[in-house]
Amino acid sequence: MKSKELSVIILAAGKGTRMKSPLPKVLHPVAGSPMIKKVIDAVKGAGASEIRVVVGYGETLVRKVVEPMSVTCFPQANQWGTADAVKSADPASLKGDVLILNGDHPLLEASDIEKILTEFNDSRASVAVVSAIVKTPGHFGRIVRHKGELRAIVEAADASAETLKINEVNTGIYVLKAEVLASFLPKIENHNSKGEYYLTDIISLCQEAGEKVTAITARASVGFGVNNQIELAKATRLLFARKRRALMEEGVLMIDPKSTYIEEEVEVGAGTVLFPGVYLRGRTKVGAYCVVEPGAYLAHARVADGAHVKAYSYLENSTVGAKASVGPFARLRPETEIGADAHVGNFVEMKKTKFGARSKAGHLTYLGDATIGEDVNIGCGTITCNYAVDRQKYRTVIGDRVFVGSDTQFVAPIEIGADAVIGSGSTITKDVPAKALAVARGKQIIKENWTPKTEPSKPEEAGK
Ligand code: UD1
Ligand code: CA
Repeated sequence: MKSKELSVIILAAGKGTRMKSPLPKVLHPVAGSPMIKKVIDAVKGAGASEIRVVVGYGETLVRKVVEPMSVTCFPQANQWGTADAVKSADPASLKGDVLILNGDHPLLEASDIEKILTEFNDSRASVAVVSAIVKTPGHFGRIVRHKGELRAIVEAADASAETLKINEVNTGIYVLKAEVLASFLPKIENHNSKGEYYLTDIISLCQEAGEKVTAITARASVGFGVNNQIELAKATRLLFARKRRALMEEGVLMIDPKSTYIEEEVEVGAGTVLFPGVYLRGRTKVGAYCVVEPGAYLAHARVADGAHVKAYSYLENSTVGAKASVGPFARLRPETEIGADAHVGNFVEMKKTKFGARSKAGHLTYLGDATIGEDVNIGCGTITCNYAVDRQKYRTVIGDRVFVGSDTQFVAPIEIGADAVIGSGSTITKDVPAKALAVARGKQIIKENWTPKTEPSKPEEAGK
């Protein structure tokens, strides 16, 4: 298919009134990313050479999302219907075949489009509409045939009771030869119940003028459009299910697939076990033979082979080395790198911290803006005091094999040399040389026989 020029027009100017939400409809997230992104990804995957997006309602917001995806936006001044929207995209400047589709069909895949284009070429038609057979045709435009041949698309609002019974519907996807589109589009009128310019009318206009028109039937999910919050939730559910199935086919183990949420771009290696309630987002990459326990939330996280992310851990834009273990209840904030075989235990928070191989921070610790060497032991309750009164952040650097006793504070900027030992309860404010012992705490004082003499209370009084 890629040999021929393919231009695409995506209609995305509508408000989506039925969504009852201030967000432009096409920006509503489906399984984690804006639904229009799914449509753009699908047409790109099918080899589109040029993509034009018609924008209107929420133009600034929509542009912000789609323009980084190398598409061109064309504003539609008034939402006067789908034909008017196509006009806004300057179709007269296009050559070859033009694919037109709605921005609210997030279940569409590149392979669907490839199939549609192949059928279009084989049909030798100059105009094709993509139809689907559905159980509940609802508000969809109906495909009207005469002796099997496509005649027209009739919008539900303008259809007779008889026509409404037709369950072959318009998916909102069309393929047309550019010159046919350019010559028939201006002929569309707005004599219908909504007073809108319907792109669907191009079918009957072309058919009457003797052009070869055809309907290409696609699978039902191609026709799945999102018009309200219920359909949005359904689209999300179906996309999550599709992703899980693909991963399971690749050897990923899921204890309870339905409760496991994995966004489209996520990668998971074979042999990895995902427990219920796991959420894998964005560009997260989990290696092979990992275990991700219940309630773990990973966004843009990279977890190497054999690592163990224990229950209720929260990882953002962080890296976990091979065979390392994190959690339960660990929080890795952005730009944290956990080395191989390292151990991060419960109630440990790290931010912008490099934590070396085989190092351990077992409990109740905050490490921020820190570089921790290899084979380091961080005792319970250790804190890097990285934020100073001048509102700047300062770094803590801890060398290899340092032993940090419990309840230590490092007042940054500070550097601890390799093999040093920090005594428990220390507040370290000065650099510590390699191999040194540093203790910075109040000295223990013993006063013998200091407790004042008191009469032992009588049992009946103690019980009061
Ligand atoms: C449209 C079709 C219907 C089809 C259905 C499939 C028409 C007249 N009807 O109906 O036959 O079954 O899609 O989902 O085409 N848009 C604009 N500018 C406008 C109007 C709409 O850009 O002036 C965009 C919308 O943002 C949306 C798409 O066009 O992405 C479809 O519009 P929508 O109002 O959802 O059309 P439907 O009523 O669903
Ligand atoms: Ca729609």
